[in-house]
Amino acid sequence: MEGRTVRQSRVTLTQIMGLTDANVLRNVHGGVIMKLCDEAGGTAAMRHARQPVVTVAVDSMGFHSPVHIGNLLTVQAEVTWVGHTSLETRIIVTAENLMTGQVTHTNTAYYVYVALDETGSPTAVPPIICETDEERALFDEAAIRQEQRLSRRRHERPINL
Ligand SMILES: CC(C)(COP(=O)(O)OP(=O)(O)OC[C@H]1O[C@@H](n2cnc3c(N)ncnc32)[C@H](O)[C@@H]1OP(=O)(O)O)[C@@H](O)C(=O)NCCC(=O)NCCS
Repeated sequence: MEGRTVRQSRVTLTQIMGLTDANVLRNVHGGVIMKLCDEAGGTAAMRHARQPVVTVAVDSMGFHSPVHIGNLLTVQAEVTWVGHTSLETRIIVTAENLMTGQVTHTNTAYYVYVALDETGSPTAVPPIICETDEERALFDEAAIRQEQRLSRRRHERPINL
């Protein structure tokens, strides 16, 4: 299977945060940001795989500072690593105050997806081509993260109800 570059997966989503996005403190609800991250990460993963993908893990979703109603949220995602059927994406969220132009980096997250074939079974994805030193460093770090995720998975088995 022919490889695809990190660049080919890159995606940017933007959305103005409105009143329906608010939590009780009148900032943007964390779940709204997580959903947009999932949409951006899933889009980057599908751009790479050119197959449907499902989210298999949300790894380290950090909230550095609040997002305010009226801010323009920008969510950038790219594939950082691929295994056989799984892909890791890095997602960076920034919030722009449209009155002052100040842009704040509010979140970094790593979401992992699995590509599925027409029967719903995991299917192989193309290799990733890292073109820059930063992409190579992210790939090496992602491989370590994936090992840690799989090690944690052993303690997160579904409970027999
Ligand atoms: C994703 C799913 C199909 C994987 O099924 P599975 O039986 O665990 O499949 P496998 O064990 O063969 O794992 C498939 C890949 O996922 C990876 N994976 C599985 N669990 C993982 C986890 N917790 N973290 C990271 N990767 C994981 C495996 O390492 C494997 O990757 P590889 O092929 O690159 O080596 C299944 O778990 C599922 O359907 N989950 C629900 C998905 C969902 O509904 N998401 C929310 C809505 S999109």
